[in-house]
Amino acid sequence: MFADLSMAPPDAILGLTEAYKQDPRASKINLGVGVYQDDQGVTPVLGSVKTAEERLLASEKTKSYLSIGGSPEYKTHVQQLLFGADHAVIAESRARTAHTPGGTGGLRVGAEFLKQHAGSATVWTSTPTWANHPGIFSAAGLAVKSYPYYDAATQSLDFDAMIAALRTVPAGDIVLLHVCCHNPTGVDLTMDQWSEVGRVAVERGWIPFLDFAYQGLGDDLEQDRQGLLRLVDEVPECFVASSFSKNFGLYRERTGALTLVAETDSAAAAAFSHVEKTIRVIYSNPPAHGGLVVSTILDDAALRQQWEQEVADIRTRIKSVRGLFVQGLAQRGVDRDFSFIERQKGMFSFSGLSDDQVSFLREEKGIYIVKGGRINVAGITSKNIDVLCDAIADVLKK
Ligand code: LMR
Repeated sequence: MFADLSMAPPDAILGLTEAYKQDPRASKINLGVGVYQDDQGVTPVLGSVKTAEERLLASEKTKSYLSIGGSPEYKTHVQQLLFGADHAVIAESRARTAHTPGGTGGLRVGAEFLKQHAGSATVWTSTPTWANHPGIFSAAGLAVKSYPYYDAATQSLDFDAMIAALRTVPAGDIVLLHVCCHNPTGVDLTMDQWSEVGRVAVERGWIPFLDFAYQGLGDDLEQDRQGLLRLVDEVPECFVASSFSKNFGLYRERTGALTLVAETDSAAAAAFSHVEKTIRVIYSNPPAHGGLVVSTILDDAALRQQWEQEVADIRTRIKSVRGLFVQGLAQRGVDRDFSFIERQKGMFSFSGLSDDQVSFLREEKGIYIVKGGRINVAGITSKNIDVLCDAIADVLKK
């Protein structure tokens, strides 16, 4: 069986990290995978996380299994961060949450649930979208199609094309939307556009599946969820896959969630019982550590405040790097207008570099950028910014 297999192609994003690690050049720069780095090039363990871990080490009494959907405390925290503690969805008990291994786990559990209960549905993803999205849904056996999103000519959202396409999506299909910090473009919907999308979902009868992996990295924790709230105001049902990889820096702890919102408490309970069945046959129940860290922080007023400040510091650094990057290119006489980079939100900048330019940067300069031109702005530091701007200025002259 194994002898007949040739190598699978490397992953579009994680494969770059592997190639970067193998690269012997001292000046190499990894702007591929969406992982935050501080100005020293380190992906830190947040101070709030360290303290929570110390407390857990001292107090944890068991390593016994969690329940299939995770602990009740974690679920409550996830829902309160998604909707706000006073939201009607929570008061009316219309949401149910499963702790999943990362946001990816949440997406895949949702995909498996859909295959079981809406197997003929097509999942619609934005053009472009996170490189892993189509694979997650098609691996579950669902058809995947795309709707227009980003207009490369204006470096902005093509909302007219998007909404026109969403008006043609058949009832019962699924539309995948990024709540904030769209990956890879950094271009988000306005609140009015969210309301419009919600109205079209209701008119047409398709169901939104929201990917919410960057809460707090756009404007702030509260602002970043407003699109989700607008949508939930309109639609009776939706899925949300969320992640604490980025905003708690818990990447390797695989700490995410799948939340479903139904029309009633009883519909939510019934649907969630099937989500639990889905989980049981994939990984049985979630890993505990990351969820305990999140709950420990959010349950303690001082730790929570520290964490909120740490998220704000991450966001502020990314914003300032965007400015320095645009300035660095302008200083090198690059005449293309890159000011749009400062308008994009979150970790990524959709640079407009072509695939040939991306290949040139990797091969000739040891600079790793995702195909399509997505740059992880959070990987730019005062140490590598000059090398990066020189290299981009160079490639643009070619
Ligand atoms: C990314 O888009 O780089 C991150 O979401 C990490 C990943 O798993 O691809």
